[in-house]
Amino acid sequence: MPYSGFHTTREVRGMEPGSRARVRGWVYRHRDLGRRVFIVLRDSEGILQLVASDQASPREVVEEARRATIESSIVAEGVVARDPRAPGGVELRLDKLEIVGLAGDFPIKGGESVDYLLDVRHLWIRSRRLTAVMRIRDTMFRAYREFFQERGFWEVSPPMLTQAAVEGGATLFEVNFFGKKAYLTQSAQLYLEALIFSLERVWTLAPSFRAERSRTRRHLYEYWHLEAEEAWAGMEEEMRLVEDLVAYTVKRVLEERLEELSLLKRDTEKLEPATRTPYPRIRYEEAIRILNRRGVEIRYGDDMGADEERILTEEYETPFFVTHFPLELKSFYMKPDPQNPGEALAFDLLAPEGVGEIVGGSQREDDLEALEEAIRRRGLNPEDYQWYLDLRRYGTVPHSGFGLGVERQVMWVAGLDHIRDSIPFPRFRDRIYP
Ligand code: 4AD
Ligand code: MG
Repeated sequence: MPYSGFHTTREVRGMEPGSRARVRGWVYRHRDLGRRVFIVLRDSEGILQLVASDQASPREVVEEARRATIESSIVAEGVVARDPRAPGGVELRLDKLEIVGLAGDFPIKGGESVDYLLDVRHLWIRSRRLTAVMRIRDTMFRAYREFFQERGFWEVSPPMLTQAAVEGGATLFEVNFFGKKAYLTQSAQLYLEALIFSLERVWTLAPSFRAERSRTRRHLYEYWHLEAEEAWAGMEEEMRLVEDLVAYTVKRVLEERLEELSLLKRDTEKLEPATRTPYPRIRYEEAIRILNRRGVEIRYGDDMGADEERILTEEYETPFFVTHFPLELKSFYMKPDPQNPGEALAFDLLAPEGVGEIVGGSQREDDLEALEEAIRRRGLNPEDYQWYLDLRRYGTVPHSGFGLGVERQVMWVAGLDHIRDSIPFPRFRDRIYP
């Protein structure tokens, strides 16, 4: 049989009984009842029941169906029939069947441990659950791109190999660059800042790397980072951009990926409120007060970790901003609030349902001397940042930007309890296989 001119399982489920259909895919389930063999076929669009029976199919088709092991690739042809017992209420009664790739005993049978499934991740990504997540992820990537195109941003391509830290030395991955030290990027921000002097509004979607010390359910060593930077924008404008972006992407997923959300048993009513903006805003100071009221021992000046963020998220049904963090808690590039120089013009966006921080952003220090001083104060070497300081020497401009952790957003939108399933091949817990 040729491998073109086929129907997807989704198309077949919509066809009239009695129509002829040709399908191709992989054996998802297999049941041999003697005189009838049932195969549930899986393709990228879903599943479909195929039946080969002594009464209705040629003998060699029944025999071939019997031989088709789990995860074998097959092509098949037959007549569409309704059957309320079949998934989706439709089945295909076969008169042709060809095994294209006969599968050996498939190493995943159900009930395996999380660790084992990570070892066979290259096979486990065929699962319906991971397929649903990857489809949601794809819809979000499309939505990000549409959003920025619509808003007049230019998409740019920063480097992954860098020579200095953006987010502190502790999480840098070192690379031997022909005998010199280099690092895997933690953030494209500094390069995006250089690009706004010509393009004004830029964005990128690229990997970032963090050698995290803490192993949590929301940290990866390699993650996808959506970052944007705008000339002539202050913190307020930037927060509006962020909430519009997040609301837009959630809306698109709710419009296009309802089947996948339902397969993941995601309660979409909990997502719905996030499609409406503005999101609430609270200052760091107030967040500390809320936490104290909730019995958490935390003082002004302390960093908020995953546990504190989780408690805060119980106060809101939508994502919300925490703003004006103490300057010392944040990176060197953030601009102090002129009203209150101990606090940064910085914001985090926290996603509800315990997820916590998905976006970090700020207005940037645009004054040369203040920036040099901030770099020194953090024990960094201004020599490493000369090119970055040049941006303040030649036509400095007020500007702001942010970074969104794509896997964190996928985790929240898809309702996953761990970040590992938001990306096909997660890098976490010191594993780099497969
Ligand atoms: O808050 P972060 O460290 O901010 C920056 O990197 C800024 N330079 C971004 C910018 O302004 N252009 O990281 C931004 C986001 C976090 O809010 C989080 O969602 C995600 O990146 N993130 C991680 N996601 C998965 N695994 C990790 N280890 C992450 N570290 C940060
Ligand atoms: Mg952050």
